[in-house]
Amino acid sequence: MKTIIANWKANPATLAEAQELFSAEVEAAEKYSSVRTVICPPFVFLEELSKQLATSNQQLATSLGAQDIFWEKSGPYTGEISPEMLKNFGVSHVLVGHSDRRYLLGERDEIINKKIKAALTAGIAPVLLVGEKEKDDIRQDVLIDQLSRDLEGLNSEQISKVLITYEPVWAISTHVGAEADTPENALEAISIVRSLLNSKFQIPNASFLYGGSVSEKNVADFLKHPQISGAVVGGASLRPAEFTKILEITSQISD
Ligand code: PGA
Repeated sequence: MKTIIANWKANPATLAEAQELFSAEVEAAEKYSSVRTVICPPFVFLEELSKQLATSNQQLATSLGAQDIFWEKSGPYTGEISPEMLKNFGVSHVLVGHSDRRYLLGERDEIINKKIKAALTAGIAPVLLVGEKEKDDIRQDVLIDQLSRDLEGLNSEQISKVLITYEPVWAISTHVGAEADTPENALEAISIVRSLLNSKFQIPNASFLYGGSVSEKNVADFLKHPQISGAVVGGASLRPAEFTKILEITSQISD
């Protein structure tokens, strides 16, 4: 089963718009239920959208995700949202290590590591995003460095629950001059990660996602490869017609 994860980032501005977008995407997820669809709205909409999902008869096809998580259950952590709070809204997945947080907010690998552990303890699947910042960065070094630190102290059973996503930062649609990576490059990155997981953590068969300017035009080029089991979709997840098309195309690809 392929997985499509919608990352809405800090969009839309109002609850009414969020509800409208959500209902279109939940409906599409139901129509193409052979795809695992995860929608990650901003925190402030999670409560209402989880109610909306519970009252629709389409709840089975859609999972709710969060865009961040804190590592303590409660306490003096101003501005933070704990795993327990997310669980209360039925959140099943959480994005961790997104480049917006790594580079705009200075989130370090040590913090990402704590967040992954907290998510796993709470039974929430972490979607870990890794990737080089610039096209001419030495990708292998960046990936090995990020993954070694982000996954430190986790055992192979825990790591196999992490959805590792190769998302080169230069390929994210909102960056100047961005374009999707080529599937060939993404496969190469995935094979670097695969051999690291195998040698360092003894995990031979992890599954990997791709992120970065995924659209209705290129999604099949990535997902037709059995090594790529899904995609993280940013910009296109704010356009319900395109997102629906992405789910439709994905539903036609077998694993
Ligand atoms: P994009 O964003 O699909 O708009 O490139 C992906 C992401 O930032 O997760």
